[in-house]
Amino acid sequence: MSANTPSVLFVCLGNICRSPSAEAVFKKKAAEQGLSIEIDSAGTAGYHKGAAPDKRAQAVGEDRGYSFKGLKCRKVVEQDFEKYDYILGMDSENVANLLEICPEEFQHKVGLFLSFSQSEEQQVPDPYYGGKRGFEYVLDLIEQGADGFVEHLKSSSP
Ligand code: 4NP
Repeated sequence: MSANTPSVLFVCLGNICRSPSAEAVFKKKAAEQGLSIEIDSAGTAGYHKGAAPDKRAQAVGEDRGYSFKGLKCRKVVEQDFEKYDYILGMDSENVANLLEICPEEFQHKVGLFLSFSQSEEQQVPDPYYGGKRGFEYVLDLIEQGADGFVEHLKSSSP
């Protein structure tokens, strides 16, 4: 990976619903736009370490053409703050949890994913205890966030 290749880490609580969906969606959109970027996701909690993304998230995402192949849950680790250029939480609680463990010098890298979108909604809500409709809504928001983030990268690349 070149030193100039930007990198992004998508973060939610469990790393089985929202952030792997953001990873899958953003991988596809970045590839379609010819953007070279390193992409990963992680959770602030480690409940499901090593697990594949939630079956409901996969079903809804695969229906829209996104691939979840090879994705495995992991927890955020301290080295992530140095390694990634953008560390984007799905909701404000994720961001607060990240800022609690992020060294001062890297705090500027942490932000809300939907802050890059045109959406008035700034939070991608936790769909874990809801139904399929909640997963569809989450994916709608993630697609808006990914489009906004693609535009941001395109406008900030040299
Ligand atoms: P996520 O959803 O943060 O979008 O991956 C959740 C997944 C699992 C749990 C909570 C949220 N859980 O409590 O196990």
